[in-house]
Amino acid sequence: MPKMTFIKPDGSRLEVDAPLGATILEIAHKNNLALEGACEGSLACSTCHIIVADEDFERLPEASEDEEDMLDLAYGLTATSRLGCQIQITEELDELVVTLPDGSNNMLV
Ligand code: FES
Repeated sequence: MPKMTFIKPDGSRLEVDAPLGATILEIAHKNNLALEGACEGSLACSTCHIIVADEDFERLPEASEDEEDMLDLAYGLTATSRLGCQIQITEELDELVVTLPDGSNNMLV
């Protein structure tokens, strides 16, 4: 099974199993990580914002326009930001490293 690593806001790293087809948001929840995902993957929030490691960013499929629009609203946006609910694990994404940002903008509350 592919693996992935989360870097938490405090800088600690957690390597976890990344089942094929699961989204980064689902994997974060399964591992009790603080990634909110307020709209449960329906591209209506930006609370599943994650920051992909520079060297891994190119491996990801490109973001859709809707994802880009939502990302523009994310707190602490970076050049390698993505929405965790929109990235599904494939064999190509084995060993992906993502950082959980410190805080989020939740427009649903
Ligand atoms: Fe809302 Fe990802 S969970 S956009």
